[in-house]
Amino acid sequence: MATLFELAGLHTTLPEATVDHLLRLTASWSLLSDLSFSDMLIFTKVIDPKSSADEYVVLGQMRPNNRSTLIGDDLLGRKRAAGDVPLVKLAFESGTRVVGEVSLDGFDDQIPVWCIPVRHGGQVVGVLQRLQGPLRGPASLYEQAYLSIFERLCDMVADGAFPFREEDVAGAGMPRIGDGIILVDGEGRLEFATPNATNALHRLGVYASVEGRTLRELGLKAKALERSLEHAIPALEEIDRGHDIAIVLHSIPLLDHGTVTGVMTLVRDVSDLRQLNRVVLNKEAAVREVHHRVKNNLQTISSLLRLQARRTESDETRVALHEAERRVRSIAVVHEVLSREPGEEVVFDEIVRSIVLLVEDTALAFHPVEIVVNGELGTLPTDLATPLAVALAELLTNAVEHAFTEFGPNEDVSGIVTLHLFIDGANAVAEIRDNGRGLGADFTLDVPTSLGLSIVRDLVRAQLHGSIEMTSVPQDQGGGTFVRVTVPTTERD
Ligand SMILES: Nc1ncnc2c1ncn2[C@@H]1O[C@H](COP(=O)(O)OP(=O)(O)OP(=O)(O)O)[C@@H](O)[C@H]1O
Ligand SMILES: [Mg+2]
Repeated sequence: MATLFELAGLHTTLPEATVDHLLRLTASWSLLSDLSFSDMLIFTKVIDPKSSADEYVVLGQMRPNNRSTLIGDDLLGRKRAAGDVPLVKLAFESGTRVVGEVSLDGFDDQIPVWCIPVRHGGQVVGVLQRLQGPLRGPASLYEQAYLSIFERLCDMVADGAFPFREEDVAGAGMPRIGDGIILVDGEGRLEFATPNATNALHRLGVYASVEGRTLRELGLKAKALERSLEHAIPALEEIDRGHDIAIVLHSIPLLDHGTVTGVMTLVRDVSDLRQLNRVVLNKEAAVREVHHRVKNNLQTISSLLRLQARRTESDETRVALHEAERRVRSIAVVHEVLSREPGEEVVFDEIVRSIVLLVEDTALAFHPVEIVVNGELGTLPTDLATPLAVALAELLTNAVEHAFTEFGPNEDVSGIVTLHLFIDGANAVAEIRDNGRGLGADFTLDVPTSLGLSIVRDLVRAQLHGSIEMTSVPQDQGGGTFVRVTVPTTERD
């Protein structure tokens, strides 16, 4: 679908500032459409140096949120001969509002339309067409009030005063017509408030019958409204009352030849939304706290293991206890990261960094080894991150512990272990390569003898439904050991 910007470029030679004005009109015109319960189109005259045809093109189309649309088709970019849209042509050329009727596909009766010239920099640059659906009975008091505001905004469009240069007055998250409207006159005195707006005022403690008095007299300081009155610009404000009440006000000045003759304020009660946010935030904080405590507990366990390792007489037991300590710490690393940013996903690269530091610590006891990390896995689901982190810690530790055993601690051999991380389709892949002695001739991954690789196998295959391969790299290709772990990022228990 073409954008207004593209269509304007294709069919006209309108200058950028004008296109920008029309764009801003479309950013705010849901307001017009809702106030008038009408479909809206923006036309502009086709300017084609190669053709003298008198044509108009549809640059924008808007449907009301509070009525069903009259136009099922997408009319964007549709060109119409001037003869087929005489009211548009008249409004464009005369620069005044033209009211009439048109026939529309699918309707027996004529449809009432308004054609409002869109002015920018003193020039008519387009025509805003309002196609009004059949009213359901006589217009209610509120509908009449909406329509009268709509008419004032139409005059502003024809005057070049709407859309506002400062900001758009409609958009995601902003209050809409249906949320509630307060209308004040040029002195700030209340003319009317819709039932929803009245409820919102009640929540802010304004109970008195309000018509004819200013909000300030009623004890409510609404800065947005006052700014709009004073400076003739739209203004947004959230008024809070304690923890429970939050009301968003969006004030839009109504201008008559530059003078503020009133302010329409859209009012939205967002108390429930804010409370929900607060609950979610509290829940996040709780989850963070739990991770923090789990991490602290794991660190305590690892300290106990370290103490016990120091006390034991047997070398074998000491090594075993040190290993256990390291394993506990590598799990703690994941909780540490989660305690900072809880959620379904976790930035795995942060975990990798901590794991590498952990293993490098262990390595100092054996041989100087450098661990180089290439690539990254980005964010991963938390239930994948923990087992994967533990598996990587085991494999890196193995490389550091076993690959360079024939070299003494002071021998000048540079042990290098690389960890290459990447995403391959739906899989996360980790490749660990060292330039050490390689695996023994009788090595097989599938005979569970030692604890470390048994853990890795269990985590990767059973828990993560992934695969693992371990091979010695031939001497002519640099030697050492190559391990590849592949785990799907989506399918888990
Ligand atoms: N990168 C490597 N280079 C050389 N040999 C390796 C490498 N990785 C593993 N091995 C060999 O595989 C064996 C099994 O490793 P595994 O991690 O299961 O046990 P471990 O490291 O000996 O003891 P632990 O249970 O404490 O991890 C190691 O003892 C080692 O001989
Ligand atoms: Mg090991």
